[in-house]
Amino acid sequence: MTKRRSGWRRGLGLLVGGTLLLACGEGADSDLSPLARRGKAVYTTNCTACHASDPNLSGGLGPDVANASIELLEARVLRAEYPPGYTPKRDSSAMVALPHLEKDIPALHAYLAEMAK
Ligand code: HEC
Repeated sequence: MTKRRSGWRRGLGLLVGGTLLLACGEGADSDLSPLARRGKAVYTTNCTACHASDPNLSGGLGPDVANASIELLEARVLRAEYPPGYTPKRDSSAMVALPHLEKDIPALHAYLAEMAK
């Protein structure tokens, strides 16, 4: 009987916690411009397998990418290159080019700029 009650309480706690977490997530999102919000969707879909979901942090494979310039994003994402004179954060070449994202570069750039701490 007592066991059952505590299970209920834990369930309720999880529910409230989850709802709060969701609400916070939305709060953070509403600070983003519409372009950056689109960029977030592109980033979450295409980049977070390797880069951290918070672009200020180092990911499982890729480095932090917050504040990446348009030039860097175009070179690295579309062509697997770096802009002339740029010193890469990692000297590996694990990231393949994702040229199909060409039209999404401005949105990615807006997201990575607005997220930068
Ligand atoms: C397969 C894993 C993987 C995916 C997917 C990936 N990256 Fe990367 N990325 C890396 C790794 C690893 C590096 C470090 C250099 C290297 O090894 O290619 C990197 C480097 C970068 C850099 C250069 C950072 C610097 O300043 O030196 C940028 C910018 C970048 N990634 C952005 C992105 C964006 C934006 C996406 C999604 C559109 C993405 N990456 C998807 C793994 C990935």
